[in-house]
Amino acid sequence: MDCNIKRMLISEEAIRSRIDELATEIARDYKGRKPLLIGILKGSVVFMADLIRKIDIPIEIDFMSVSSYGNDTSSSGVVRILKDLDSPITGRDVLIIEDILDSGLTLGYLTRVLGERQPKSIKICSLLYKMRSADEQLPIDISYLGFAIENEFVIGYGLDYAGFYRNLPFIGILDEKAYSNE
Ligand code: PRP
Repeated sequence: MDCNIKRMLISEEAIRSRIDELATEIARDYKGRKPLLIGILKGSVVFMADLIRKIDIPIEIDFMSVSSYGNDTSSSGVVRILKDLDSPITGRDVLIIEDILDSGLTLGYLTRVLGERQPKSIKICSLLYKMRSADEQLPIDISYLGFAIENEFVIGYGLDYAGFYRNLPFIGILDEKAYSNE
C-alpha cells in the first residue's frame, strides 16, 4: 500500500454491497418517474458510475462542477459554478449524487441553486457523510447515504488529495504526515 495511506476505511466489497442496497432503494422510490441523476464533479464520478449501473429503472444523468472558496466550515463560504447542467430541470425529479458531505457548503449551495429552477423534487444521495460538530456543518438532509464516517481525511474511490488517489478502488485514510508539513 502507498506509504501515505494510513489504513483502509471502507473496502471495495463493502462499497459494492452498500451501493447495491442504495440502488435498490432508489429504483423502488423512483419507479415510473424517470429521475435525473446529477453527478457533482469530480469526486462523485466513481460512485456515480457504479451506482447507476445497479439502478434498474429508466434514468438520465447530467453533471455539474462547482468550486468552493473561503472558510469551508461556515455558510459564508463562496461557491462558484464551473460547469452548469446541459439541460433545464424544470419539472424533473432530481437526485444529486455526491461523494461526501463535509461542511455542507457545497450541497447547501447546490440544493438552493437547483431548487430555484423549479424541479418537481430534489433529493441528495451521498456516499459519505463526515460527522462534524453542529457549528462546523450545515444541516443538510441526505435521503440516500452510503456511510457516516469520523472526521478524518479520506481518499480513494473518487476522493482526492491534491488531485491524486481518486483511482484507489477502496476508501482509505490519508496519513497526517502527507499534509502536515504544508
Ligand atoms: C469535495 C467533495 C464535495 C465537497 C464536500 O469537492 O467532492 O463536493 O468537497 O465538501 P463540503 O461539504 O465541505 O462542501 P472538492 O471541492 O474537493 O472537488 P472535487 O469533487 O473535484 O474533488
